[in-house]
Amino acid sequence: MSKPRILVTRRWPAAVEAVLAERFDVTLNSDDLPLGENELRLALSIYDAVLPTVSDRLPAAVFEGASIVTKILGNFGVGYNHIDVAAARAKGIAVTNTPGVLTDCTADIALLLLLSVARRGGEGERQLRAGEWKGWCPTHLVGTKVSGKTLGIIGFGRIGRAFAQRCHFGFGMDVVFFNRSPVDPEEAARYGARQLSTVEDVLAAADFVSLHCPGGAENRHLMNAARLATMKPGAFLINTARGDVIDESALIAALESGTLRGAGLDVYEAEPHVPEALRRMENVVLLPHLGSATEETRTAMGMKVVENVTAFFEGREAPDRVV
Ligand code: DGY
Repeated sequence: MSKPRILVTRRWPAAVEAVLAERFDVTLNSDDLPLGENELRLALSIYDAVLPTVSDRLPAAVFEGASIVTKILGNFGVGYNHIDVAAARAKGIAVTNTPGVLTDCTADIALLLLLSVARRGGEGERQLRAGEWKGWCPTHLVGTKVSGKTLGIIGFGRIGRAFAQRCHFGFGMDVVFFNRSPVDPEEAARYGARQLSTVEDVLAAADFVSLHCPGGAENRHLMNAARLATMKPGAFLINTARGDVIDESALIAALESGTLRGAGLDVYEAEPHVPEALRRMENVVLLPHLGSATEETRTAMGMKVVENVTAFFEGREAPDRVV
């Protein structure tokens, strides 16, 4: 029997590409550039499986028109708001993701952002590299102490929990969170956290707010101008979730007016575009979507996709099927 034909939309860790090549008839996108909607629509009419990433947009329009042969989209990533899963389901296409394997590394990046923005690490590095450091003095780049402060988490899934654990047990932070569904208080206490009833309750209490909810329609602009205005004066906002959870223009206004003291961002509304206003601000730490970017995690993500697609074509239930 011939092997399923598979399109991998970006280059993956070599070890995972090797496993894929043993099992499937693989086409790699050797340019390693995001595919456009027309290329993705064409791919759906050629390949049995397409393996996209967050850099590939698959709105409903991609699933319309052409006769589709693709049976599964094996997404390389846990977040899948770049895929219109309802449109995929309507065409009988399964979608899988990669939960679990990027929890620790993404929580680590949230911690890196929180510490960098509170302690002015980015500013200090830029100053030193520019040869502008004049030596130690008591008033130089004085930041905000993290230990003992209150952290507010929006979304208490795997990554929110891992971040709470790091901040409570590592830094003695008081951790409160909002989650759509109730979390058993004993379970929350294992991560050093307690649940509050509303997003607003969390925003009013927290010195640092960190977003860990999915992107897409349900949470689009959850952090809008009104909510940003209810944050504690001088608070910091951290986002390692998805860019569309924050109204970026409202964030810029809150930072410019000084309502917010700073922000640490790993994700943006229209990646890879990052508004110039943010790039100019000294009190903002900006990373290029690095949450899962470690060798170990990227390899584990790839192997999860391999497991899902292998199970699917062997007629078994794909372990991480989302539709
Ligand atoms: C994820 O897995 O969702 C990361 O953000 C990369 O897409």
